[in-house]
Amino acid sequence: MKKRKISNICCIGAGYVGGPTMAVLADNNPKLKVTVVDINKQKIDLWNSKDLKYLPIYEPGLAKVISRNRDVNLFFSYNVSESIAEADMVFISVNTPTKKKGFGAGFASDLKWVESSARQVAKYSRGHTIVVEKSTLPVKTAQTIKTILQACEVKCEDINKNKSFSILSNPEFLAEGTAINDLQNPDRVLIGGDDNNAIKLLKEIYLNWVEDYKILTTDLWSSELSKLISNAFLAQRISSINSISALCEATQSNINNVAKAVGMDKRIGPFFLEAGPGFGGSCFKKDISNLIYICNHYGLSEVASYWEKVILINQWQQKRISKIIVEKLFGNLSEKKIAILGFAFKSNTNDTRESPAISICKDLLEEGCFLSIYDPKVKKEQIDRELKLINTLESDFDNEKHYWEKSKNINEACDNSDAIVILTNWEEFLNLDFKKMQSIMKSPSWIFDTRNMVELSQAERYGFNIWKLGDGF
Ligand code: NAD
Ligand code: UGA
Repeated sequence: MKKRKISNICCIGAGYVGGPTMAVLADNNPKLKVTVVDINKQKIDLWNSKDLKYLPIYEPGLAKVISRNRDVNLFFSYNVSESIAEADMVFISVNTPTKKKGFGAGFASDLKWVESSARQVAKYSRGHTIVVEKSTLPVKTAQTIKTILQACEVKCEDINKNKSFSILSNPEFLAEGTAINDLQNPDRVLIGGDDNNAIKLLKEIYLNWVEDYKILTTDLWSSELSKLISNAFLAQRISSINSISALCEATQSNINNVAKAVGMDKRIGPFFLEAGPGFGGSCFKKDISNLIYICNHYGLSEVASYWEKVILINQWQQKRISKIIVEKLFGNLSEKKIAILGFAFKSNTNDTRESPAISICKDLLEEGCFLSIYDPKVKKEQIDRELKLINTLESDFDNEKHYWEKSKNINEACDNSDAIVILTNWEEFLNLDFKKMQSIMKSPSWIFDTRNMVELSQAERYGFNIWKLGDGF
């Protein structure tokens, strides 16, 4: 069945991707009705909150787009069945984390949320529905979705003769912290599929704000795979530069100078060469793990072990940093207070998934220190959830004792502490008041700068001992 026009869109999943993506899509397509649905009622209530500071995610520019479009042509709802039934096009933008148990645990993607979304679409849709994979998925997942939907086409034939589906892959390339800009000005939009009419209809939606030459159309499998590979290549650059940061420290060279010199080669380019405490975020590790799983599945064990190294270097970098901190503080953290600046996995987001801060903080706590953690956007409950001291660490943490506190600002975190560890590249950490900090910290006071943010000469002037990642001077 051929669809002529899209008037009504439903997006399943109101998370970091579904919310911002649909907000920008609605903003650029005033004639479309866009409804974002989620099984998490609390999240939907937050998306609908009158005071925009309570939106469930922090993303620069997001509140403005929401305020322009919400309840005009953009809606947030937990009525999944009704929204699917009304929709001509359904985006699946649900979570696809790594499986925690069963076959492929630790590597394969857990597709239970994708499958349940497909089943919901099969059940509630009417007429012809274009189903768009927005989630990042293992190559060939569209086949699974197709099979579920086709089974319904056959079964529903008697009741609803017109029920039919087309499937497209349209992976998302936004990065958190810059999501609105990335969505508004994407490097490319990728649409994979085998139904030319469905591709044309989705392309028309994007053409309202994206130039034609940036919209790339491919077959389904290449589109699904390209998303995994893009993330793998980005993460690989970070592991490459992080591995060299250790070599710089050992050879009296400087990682910033090396990255600049290397990145000025046009063939290499300057982006994603910032050494740091390792990549965090919900996707790099999970997508590379999935890539490794797929390679092993197809018998490509050499390819799998090549990509495995990207993850191993990332873990090593975090451990390496924890060890250096302990060593510099005389090999003993007990009775010491350490200020942690930044807990989010990068600046301009409140997301803490896979943040390097988690493993580094856990390592330091294991050594017996007290942490005062400051992050401008991360809530205390999130840190609590991520550190989960009592349940996960095999040591004598006890329920009654406090091992860390959430500080309201930099000074409160630094007060009476022995060291500062900068873990997230928040802009406010670029202009630290070293004079003030030195006056309220214990001596000798240390700064461990894992993000290369501190002006060395300034901090040294006030008597700080400083360790900067990748700086061998
Ligand atoms: P998320 O966890 O923030 O959001 C997913 C949402 O889907 C959750 O709110 C969950 O309640 C909802 N959900 C799950 N099953 C549902 C169902 N059956 N019906 C209705 N709602 C359901 O995840 P995210 O970060 O938005 O990522 C979503 C997908 O996009 C993942 O595949 C991810 O790999 C990919 N992706 C993420 C980013 C990113 O920056 N976070 C960027 C590009 C791609
Ligand atoms: C990443 C990709 O950049 C997006 O294109 C992709 O859509 C997304 O994953 C996804 O699929 O989820 P994101 O994880 O949000 O986006 O953020 P990045 O800017 O890529 O940063 C990831 C991690 O790498 C952060 O911890 C960041 O601090 C670190 N990083 C990044 C570095 O250590 N050095 C760099 O040079 C760049």
